[in-house]
Amino acid sequence: MKLLMRCSQMSVRVSWEMRIEMMAGAAVTPRWREALRSMIEAGLSHHEARVLLEEASGRSFAELFIGLEEVMDPAAHHRLTALVSDRLAGVPLQHLVGLWPFRHLELVVDRRGLIPRPETEEVVGVALDELDRLAASRATKSGRRRPLLALDLGTGSGAIACSLVHENPQCWVLAIDRSTEALALCGVNLGRLVPEERHRIRLAQGSWFAPVAGIGNIAFDLVVANPPYLSRAEWSELEITVRDHDPYGALVAGETGIEDLAVIIAQAPNYLAPGGLLLCEIGASQGESCRELARRAGAKEAKIRQDLAGRDRMLLARFS
Ligand SMILES: C[S@@+](CC[C@H](N)C(=O)[O-])C[C@H]1O[C@@H](n2cnc3c(N)ncnc32)[C@H](O)[C@@H]1O
Repeated sequence: MKLLMRCSQMSVRVSWEMRIEMMAGAAVTPRWREALRSMIEAGLSHHEARVLLEEASGRSFAELFIGLEEVMDPAAHHRLTALVSDRLAGVPLQHLVGLWPFRHLELVVDRRGLIPRPETEEVVGVALDELDRLAASRATKSGRRRPLLALDLGTGSGAIACSLVHENPQCWVLAIDRSTEALALCGVNLGRLVPEERHRIRLAQGSWFAPVAGIGNIAFDLVVANPPYLSRAEWSELEITVRDHDPYGALVAGETGIEDLAVIIAQAPNYLAPGGLLLCEIGASQGESCRELARRAGAKEAKIRQDLAGRDRMLLARFS
């Protein structure tokens, strides 16, 4: 099956390159419409083709659409050829474009961090609901707003941390990652926030809670984590676009896949404020194990939430 996929990928790639060679050998560069058709025939989806055309031309698809019969300029043609070859070789669309939407932000994405996924946008939605609930329960008569403190474990590109401060003006985040490369990428995304939001995020390097261990008297209203949750065997079965381009350390937890979740769930009660929430993104088969780990860590409430397809995707646990 895999072999067949590789062969078909190779054949679409060859046909694209042959087309490009023919186009390059032609007296004139192709029209935008011809390039679009060739990309679809080579196996790209309409969405991918549109995104790559925009990237190569520097124009929106709406602008291109009006001028589909125009001849491409040679520089755009050259750039498009390289982009399509890379995409057909398995480079993720997100890395080719370099910027990718996540909720209300556009994040820089590259090999240093995991490409943020739509599932994680839902995790942020649940985190924000929780922060609203906490803020309402603590509202004082004077209307003074107390800061809400969140810990983002395994921040990667900073998708969760940046969204929390962007969407909740009371929220402050300590964002931790073990990878210096991921933290460098996160720093780039922090730099894209307005100063008032950027100011409410601090970064620290280390393994899970290690950077806050021993500080004493620190309690978070929310601990949110999207840790690695694949086993080594699951990683080896991933499609090339994920396996060869997302960092291994962002995907794989160990032999079983539950190792990092087990550490986070066991230690979270030591760092949560009274009534605080532990919120973790989890793998679809890990719901029951995570609920059990939370119970063993003393959770008085441990819920699993499903995504729209009915798969277990999040653990919500309270310990007091
Ligand atoms: C699945 S990625 C999540 C990235 C980002 N939070 C997101 O949701 O898109 C997991 C992140 O955890 C980090 N990580 C892995 N092991 C870690 C550890 N022991 N301590 C801290 N961070 C770790 C990885 O470097 C990676 O950035």
